[in-house]
Amino acid sequence: MYILGIESSCDETSAAVVSMNENGERRILSNIVASQIEIHRLYGGVVPEIASRAHIEAISNVTNEALSEAGVSLLDIGCVAVTSHPGLIGALLVGVNFAKSLAFSNKIPLVAVNHVKAHVAAAYLEDPALEPPFLALVVSGGHTSIYSVENYTDFCEIGATRDDAAGEAFDKIGRVIGMPYPAGAAMDKLAYEGDAKAIKLPSPALLGDTLDFSFSGLKTAALNYINSERQKGNEPNAADLTASYTATIVDAIVKKIDASISKTGAKTLVLAGGVAANSHIRKALDTLCEKRNVKFCKPRLSLCSDNAAMVAAAGYFEYLKGNFADTSLNASASDDGN
Ligand code: KG4
Ligand code: ZN
Repeated sequence: MYILGIESSCDETSAAVVSMNENGERRILSNIVASQIEIHRLYGGVVPEIASRAHIEAISNVTNEALSEAGVSLLDIGCVAVTSHPGLIGALLVGVNFAKSLAFSNKIPLVAVNHVKAHVAAAYLEDPALEPPFLALVVSGGHTSIYSVENYTDFCEIGATRDDAAGEAFDKIGRVIGMPYPAGAAMDKLAYEGDAKAIKLPSPALLGDTLDFSFSGLKTAALNYINSERQKGNEPNAADLTASYTATIVDAIVKKIDASISKTGAKTLVLAGGVAANSHIRKALDTLCEKRNVKFCKPRLSLCSDNAAMVAAAGYFEYLKGNFADTSLNASASDDGN
């Protein structure tokens, strides 16, 4: 069955056609992403109203391109899957309304998809043999959560950040040391050039019997370090700071994933979300999974950042479960866990 995925929750307009069936086929036929990063870079972060307008301008062309690259027409599509939550409300509404009109005017079943679950579903496309249950770490610009994934549609959050997300933590400090938005990928590279032990920073891994994180203390400590160096007339060593900051985040993630494996007895770990592109996190979790004898699924970089193929994959399982959306489908900024 061909599923048309549509994604517009933040700053990428994306449409994709994925072919999935009960014989285990999971194939990406197209995955078109129109990024708005260049527009938002001028402002140092995503401007919601500008994002909504850019989605409106791009969505129709992006969808046509996804269909034509896949070599299919709307008549071949068995299901339209759209991200309905969580995300920027105005941005989400563009995708939801577009998907609704496309689905209902062409009499195609419509399913609503949770963006966080879609990030995890990217792993089904990376590894067509992957099956739940497994443990999943979602690290993105807006989320840092650990899930026990019980089946294709039901997740249990066993750990999460109590404040900022990992991606936000990278972007914020990157910006202060002069990197353009979003700073994650540039910080990833710069971290190789510094001394990871140069600056002592507080761990975002909360103490005690919890799998939760808190990134605000780490962010504040890094900002204080930068400001106190500047007050002394020194420009902080960006490479040492980035290396130390990255190592502190990586250590916290490894610690909580190690504890999650012990707690759940998971045999597989899935890494998902934009920050899953971070090479230091990928390597550290590779090492941990080898040590714990856990299978590690880390999708290719194009499936980690926001894209509609992952939305189509998640939508397929909602379709199988009969979770269809009707004309009353609305977007929602918050994550209700469903
Ligand atoms: O999943 P995503 O594309 O959008 C959200 O749903 O939030 O994630 C975007 C985030 C940004 O914060 C960006 O800086 C971060 O992913 N990111 C990275 C890397 N590549 C992207 N963070 C760390 N290392 C990277 N290599
Ligand atoms: Zn995302």
